[in-house]
Formats: sequence, C-alpha cells, structure tokens
Amino acid sequence: MDKNTDLKKRRENSHLGGGKARIDKQHEQGKLTARERITLLLDENSFHEIGQFVEHRSTAFGLDKQVFPGDGVVTGFGTIHGRLIYVFSQDFTVLGGSLSETHAAKICRIMDLAMKNGAPLIGINDSGGARIQEGVVSLAGYADIFYRNTRASGVIPQISVIMGPCAGGAVYSPALTDFIFMVEETSYMFVTGPNVVKTVTHESVTSEDLGGAKAHAEKSGVNHFIATNDVECLKKVRDLVTYFPQNSNELAPHPKQFSFNKAKLETIKHILPENNSIPYDIRKVVDNVIDDASFREVQEDFAKNIVVGFGRLEGRTLGIIANQPAAMAGVLDIDASRKGARFVRFCDAFNIPLLVFEDVPGFLPGTDQEWRGIITHGAKLLYAFAEATVPRITVITRKAYGGAFDVMNSKNIGADLNYAWPTAEIAVMGAKGAAEIIFKREIASASIPEEKWKEKEAEYAELFANPYRAAERGIIDDVILPEETRAKLIAGFKMLENKAEVLPQKKHGNIPL
Ligand code: HXC
Repeated sequence: MDKNTDLKKRRENSHLGGGKARIDKQHEQGKLTARERITLLLDENSFHEIGQFVEHRSTAFGLDKQVFPGDGVVTGFGTIHGRLIYVFSQDFTVLGGSLSETHAAKICRIMDLAMKNGAPLIGINDSGGARIQEGVVSLAGYADIFYRNTRASGVIPQISVIMGPCAGGAVYSPALTDFIFMVEETSYMFVTGPNVVKTVTHESVTSEDLGGAKAHAEKSGVNHFIATNDVECLKKVRDLVTYFPQNSNELAPHPKQFSFNKAKLETIKHILPENNSIPYDIRKVVDNVIDDASFREVQEDFAKNIVVGFGRLEGRTLGIIANQPAAMAGVLDIDASRKGARFVRFCDAFNIPLLVFEDVPGFLPGTDQEWRGIITHGAKLLYAFAEATVPRITVITRKAYGGAFDVMNSKNIGADLNYAWPTAEIAVMGAKGAAEIIFKREIASASIPEEKWKEKEAEYAELFANPYRAAERGIIDDVILPEETRAKLIAGFKMLENKAEVLPQKKHGNIPL
C-alpha cells in the first residue's frame, strides 16, 4: 500500500470510532455521532481536526486490545458564521466516550489554543465519565480540564452541550462553563446516578427525573437551554454565539442589518394594565422595545419571576434583566437573585451592556427564604450589578419598592441612566403596607377610623406612587413615555459607547457565594 493510501485508510479507521455496530446503536437512541455533531455545529467544511491518531497507553484490564485512534474524543477548530471556534466532541462509541489520560490531554490542548488565540470553546459531552480501567490518571485528567475551565472563565466564552450521560466529575466541567445546553430524553447530568441514589437515600427515581433536561431546566437551574433533539440543539448553539464577542477584550459583533416593526411603538402603550395589581408579561415590553425577534431568553423555565436573556438594539447585543410581574408578582427570591447575578456577571465579563426593566415589589419574605439564605443570595445580585462596569440603563415600568429598588441596577449602585415610565411607583413599600406601619398604634387602638386610615394610605400613594419624587432628587434621570423607550435606549447606549470605568486594583472581589 502506498503511503498516501495508507494515510487515507488510517483516517477512515479513526473516523469509524468504536465501529459500525456502536454507531448504529447511537443512532437508534436518537443520538448523532461525535463527528456528525461537529459537522452540524460548524460552518460547512470549516473543521480542522487535531489529534485524530492519538491513542491511549493503558494496558490494564485488557485495554491494550481496545485501542481506537482518537481515543474517544474529536478535537479541533473551525468557524461558526465565519468566526473562529474551538471544539471537542466526545465519542460515546469508543469505550462510552470515557475520559482517559490522553483523551483529557486532547481536550486540554484545544482549551490552551482557545485561550492563547482568544476564541470561544464549545464542548460536546457524551461520556460515561472517568475511564474506570485507568483509575487515578483519568481523575487527574478531569482536574486538568477543571483547572483550565476556571482559568478561561471570563476570558473566552465557554459553552457545554450535554448530549449523553454526564455523571460524577463529568458534570463539573460543564458547571464551570458559561452556558449549558441539554437535549430532552437523551442527556443526563447528575453527581450520582439513580442506582447510587437508591442505595444511599432509598429514593427510586428515573434518570430523566433525577438529571434530565427538564429537571435541570425547571428545578435546579443547572442548564440554560434545552432542545428536543441534537439537530435543534446545535442550531441553537450556532445562534447563541452570534451574540457574544470572541473574548473579553473584544465587543460582540454588530450586524448593521436589523428590523423593527414600527407598529410596536403603538403596542407598547397598551401593555400595562390600568390596575397596578394586575400582572402582565414583561417579555412583551422587551419584545416591543428591541429589534424584531432578537430576544434569546436564558433559563426560561427556572425562577420565572426574573427574565434574563440577550437581545439586540439596532444590531448591538444587550444583556436584558427584567422582573416578571406575571410570575410571583416579580418578587426577588433566592433563585431569581442567583439567576440574575450569574447572567449580569457573564455580560460584564464580555463587554455586553446591560438593560434592566424593573417592576419589583421587593424581596420574598418568610422562613423558607430566610433560612435558606436570601440575605446572602440576594446580595449576589446586588454585588453583580454594583461591580459591573459595562454601560447600564434601567427603565422602571411600575413598582420599584424597598431594597429591590436599590438592587435592580439603581443609579446609586453605578447604573449610568435610569428612566421611569409615568406608571412608576418608587417607594420603600406599597401604600397599604406603609399606612399600616406608620399608623400601627392608632390602628391597633382603633383610635383612627377606617376612612381616615384609607386617607393616609392615599396620602402615601399620592406622595410616592409615582416617579416624580425620585425625579426631583435626580435618582432617576427622566420620566419617559413607553413609546419613547426604544429611542431613549438607542441614544443612551450610543452615548455610553466609550464608557471606561476601572474597578479598584485588587486580586479579586469576594462575591457572597
Ligand atoms: C470505561 C465505560 C465507561 C467508563 C461506559 N463504558 N462507561 N468504559 N469507563 N466510565 C463503556 C461500557 O463498558 C460499554 O463498552 C460502552 O462504554 C457503552 O456503555 P453501556 O453501559 O453499554 O451504555 P449505556 O447502557 O448507554 O449506559 C451508559 C452509562 C453506563 C450510563 C454511562 O455505561 C455507566 O453507568 N457507566 C459508568 C459511569 C460511571 O460511573 N463513571 C464514572 C463516574 S466517576 P462496550 O465495549 O460494551 O461498548 C467520575 C469521576 C470523575 O467520572 C471525578 C472528577 C472529580
């Protein structure tokens, strides 16, 4: 055989992974192979593989007879919409995609290149975890990856796509990255699987209920996006990265093409109900302000009382954080604070300006929240906003009460511009609660007739249930009509384009974790 034909044969062999039977099994389970996934993820013919002939060196437990070129992970670089991306994709057909010493070294090599060259890293995970036959060296391999994930955090965007089982150490690399995608019914994430759970806690639970895509989307908040199959999932990843810069020294791409349906300027006038106790969907406000169809909601099914996601204003990427009156009246609780804080920090790390829509009645009271540490968790959101140096604008649509007013990107914690709609109510608390406290003694002794008390309530509402006391003090910068919001935001973010704010010199802050 001539040398060129030999190379071609070797390539074919490497591309077969664990062999045809195992590829068929993968397909039967509704899963694509590692290479098919890369092909769908990257631009056509843009993938360049690195390390396809790498083999493991283990001999224990018959591994010397199970050698597969590439060792269960396909690594390399390519482009998405013309921009450089580094990728690894674990091949479940090779020893269950398990992570050996050399498999880990291949991933680390790609991570090092991504860091040196400042481009995002996308990891497609489909692996039974540490290669059991290799023992401690595979554990050390995971640690090498965790170390690099942490060093790369805030320098390059890191995305984890979970497309198979992910147990033990295998969940901690994704957890260290910025965004996790999961596929319903074929991907799982758990520290220990159902069998161990049964032994330790005597609970009977399926893999899907314990660590499936929906469980993590709705209950734990571990993942950020879910899809119904591999194809849809990879399409979503391709779309998401268009909102990100390549690294923390760059700005997100700014497509000059955008569309905005002018009818939305009329629609936005009618979103808020007349009665301030009636909920409305804040996403309608978001959609009627930003470029058409540009909102990409993150963690849509978790802590629905806060909405976070990426959007575009005249093509520029924004990070949007909005209280959601349609879920628990938009109150801030532990989950909402954690969700908001993590999103704010991603945006700040990657130079993505922040837009806040505020309609918040306060923090959620009660023993459950207090004992689980709402003080610490709520402080995360406060800290994240206060630390952010990107351009920041807040629009108060309705309620801005109590500590939550301070937390939700108030000017006093460093926001650049704060606007309020005429419907805004900016106060320590709602009028009813305020009257009850101010006139507590009189109410208790019944020395004040009910109509008098109602008068006091109205007096408090008259004084504070509007945006003008705050505007008089310059705590907000202007009161604007809903239909003026888009134009005000476009002008505001343009004005802030060259904002340069530097945090005090320090090793790193100590966010209340
Ligand atoms: C070596 C493995 C493997 C592993 C699977 N295989 N996991 N080989 N090390 N960790 C192999 C199987 O032997 C099998 O080989 C092939 O992969 C497919 O596995 P199946 O069991 O047939 O597939 P399936 O029924 O789909 O089940 C998948 C699975 C199960 C749920 C992942 O294989 C499993 O539970 N594996 C062990 C998971 C685990 O406990 N890993 C260690 C986690 S601890 P053949 O030759 O038959 O195709 C960890 C520590 C890291 O990761 C710590 C860092 C801090």
